[in-house]
Amino acid sequence: MPKPKVFVTRIIPAPGLERVSACCDADIWPAETPPTPGEILARVRGVDGLLCLLTDRIDAAVMDAAGAQLKVISNHAVGVDNIDLAAATARGLPVGNTPGILTDATADMALALLLAAGRRIVAGAHEVRSGGWKTWGPSYMLGADFAGATLGLLGFGRIGQAVARRAAGFGMRITYHDPFVTDPQPGLEAQPVGLERLLRESDFISIHTPLNEATRHLIDAAALAKMKPTAVLVNTARGPIVDQQALYAALKERRIFAAGLDVTDPEPLPLDSPLLELDNLVIVPHIASASWRTRAEMSRMAAENLIAGLKGERLPNCVNPDVYPAQ
Ligand code: GLV
Repeated sequence: MPKPKVFVTRIIPAPGLERVSACCDADIWPAETPPTPGEILARVRGVDGLLCLLTDRIDAAVMDAAGAQLKVISNHAVGVDNIDLAAATARGLPVGNTPGILTDATADMALALLLAAGRRIVAGAHEVRSGGWKTWGPSYMLGADFAGATLGLLGFGRIGQAVARRAAGFGMRITYHDPFVTDPQPGLEAQPVGLERLLRESDFISIHTPLNEATRHLIDAAALAKMKPTAVLVNTARGPIVDQQALYAALKERRIFAAGLDVTDPEPLPLDSPLLELDNLVIVPHIASASWRTRAEMSRMAAENLIAGLKGERLPNCVNPDVYPAQ
């Protein structure tokens, strides 16, 4: 029996790559940068499976270019906003993702950005290197207090709750807004609040919602205008949830204190982006899940979804289970 043909859109960590290479005839995109949309269309022709990254737009045209034998799309990410799920479901194609394993690493990064932005870590490091540090000063480089402050979590799924557990250790009061979570979480002292109240009352706001039509530009000029002038905003979810022009204006005019972004719109952020002028914004290059164990496990999960789909088995983690007949 010939091995199933698959296209893997980047070199993924060894645990996943070895699994895929062992049982598939794998075409692995060798470059550090993603294939262009045209290159994806060309490489998917005739494949049985596709293992893709969040940098790849997988739409109906890609699915159709692959052909009717395509059995599975496995995303090496928990977020699947890069994939047209409706188109996949309409074609009976299961789509896999990698939930759970990146919860802790992402929550760690959210805390790191809250601290970095709130306590001016990057601006402070710049002071040291640029000669701005003249002496210890009673009012020099003051930042936000964490103990006793209110943290508002926009989205209270796995990652939002992991951030809440960490923030509790800092003595923060936790509130959250999530239309899909109604029950208070056992063991977590966190209060559900409306969006308006969260925006107005939070000292820190951290975003943990998926990107979809309801959350695109959820943080726009109007939302930013409701925040405290001392507020710190952090986004480790998806760039387009925040209207970046509005964020630029709010930070530049000091209408909020600071922000930390792991994700931007677009990615990578162009070097001439005005955001890069701001000293009250910390930006890192979408690395919240970039820890050794997390990325190794993500690659394993992505490979296992791919291989299950190729065998016609149910994916261990499927985001569109409607493709399976009701049991
Ligand atoms: C990372 O952003 C992911 O969705 O896995």
